[in-house]
Amino acid sequence: MGMRILVVGGGGREHALVWKLAQSPKVGTLFCAPGNAGTATLAEPVPAADLKELVAAATRLRADLVVVGPEAPLAAGLADRLTEAGVPVFGPTAAAARIESSKAWAKEVMAEAGVPTARAVIVDRLDAARDALEDFAFPMVVKADGLAAGKGVVIAESRADAEAALTSMLLDRTFGAAGGRVVLEEHLTGREVSVLALTDGETVLPLPPACDYKRAYDNDRGPNTGGMGAYAPVPVMDGALLQTVIGSILEPTVRALTARSTPLRGVLYAGLMLNANGPQVLEFNARFGDPETQVVLPLLDADLTGLLAAVAAGDLKAVPPQPPPTSAAVGVVLAAGGYPGQYQTGLPIEGLEDVPEDALVFHAGTQLDDYGRVLTAGGRVLTVVGRGTNLAAARDRAYAGADAISFPDLQLRRDIALREIMPQ
Ligand code: AMP
Ligand code: GLY
Repeated sequence: MGMRILVVGGGGREHALVWKLAQSPKVGTLFCAPGNAGTATLAEPVPAADLKELVAAATRLRADLVVVGPEAPLAAGLADRLTEAGVPVFGPTAAAARIESSKAWAKEVMAEAGVPTARAVIVDRLDAARDALEDFAFPMVVKADGLAAGKGVVIAESRADAEAALTSMLLDRTFGAAGGRVVLEEHLTGREVSVLALTDGETVLPLPPACDYKRAYDNDRGPNTGGMGAYAPVPVMDGALLQTVIGSILEPTVRALTARSTPLRGVLYAGLMLNANGPQVLEFNARFGDPETQVVLPLLDADLTGLLAAVAAGDLKAVPPQPPPTSAAVGVVLAAGGYPGQYQTGLPIEGLEDVPEDALVFHAGTQLDDYGRVLTAGGRVLTVVGRGTNLAAARDRAYAGADAISFPDLQLRRDIALREIMPQ
């Protein structure tokens, strides 16, 4: 009897997780709550509106493992409740997920662990924040402490920008309680790289580094989004640099969390800026990144089920280190016109069956209608992932796949991974 695994979430990240888990000989039945039209081809959809229903579903389905995708249920304590109910879970407790859900707390942990990061001051009052601004050059960065769906970071070009951001967070409470405390931070420049590592609170197992594209339009213009594309691996992040990241960032952070009796079991995702002083942490997340996961998992030779189960069991040290990837992957997000602002849903998606076999299509905002047709159901609709022996080949396959698909007002970036191929 194979394992019964419930994946929580319904985006491209979760489709990629389900796709990779489904390849494992250890897996019997997959479930996805709530999932989307893509996950439904591999995993039974499970409706669950809140934590209570998710725990009840995991118990009823006799799940041998629950894999939690998004940050919100982790921060709300889903992993704690599953553990109480005796269900093995991949994903940290709420206490450990604070490394993502409180940027101020993350700064404290980093300071304690000696992890390189931007100089910061934490404030919870507007007058104190104004005083603290005296010590910053512009641009500088204003960050809401809590989870703000990727919108809580403002790069302030001037004192006026900074004051406006502070007023909006601390006084107007634009982000609710998440903005009741604010991190003021020195602005760093350089190349951004995401390193996702599996950890059971003791052993750290990094996955191939990735780059994501957060802005809506080509050449990093336009508003911030959940992510418009990604690629992996990242040539500049060679073996030596990755060792530095492990030794100076990932391991000290994991040790500091365990020493505080809040061991992190799941993913430690380091958002890094590479500059002349070496890798600096911009932020930590306590979950798989999206869209990074959609390009990282296709490069993994290992059985993901075995890896995630080892994390859940606290037995990651028994897993051999992963060899560097021998191929590359590029993912291009197909988004609804207008995203991340207003956009339409319910539009028919054409051409899914015309995507060449060598490209992967991960669904994010999709749903099936009563006739089994796939409709758009969100801002980020699909990700097309190409794989190849190098980034150029992977990129060609990703765009060939993306160009086979259409829906009204489809928007995509044309420059994903381009910087790795053409000198700019
Ligand atoms: P975060 O939500 O913390 O990942 O921040 C969102 C984005 O803001 C990051 O991906 C960076 O592009 C940018 N950012 C955050 N902190 C800094 C910083 N200290 N210096 C420069 N850019 C930053
Ligand atoms: N790719 C950014 C994130 O998952 O937060």
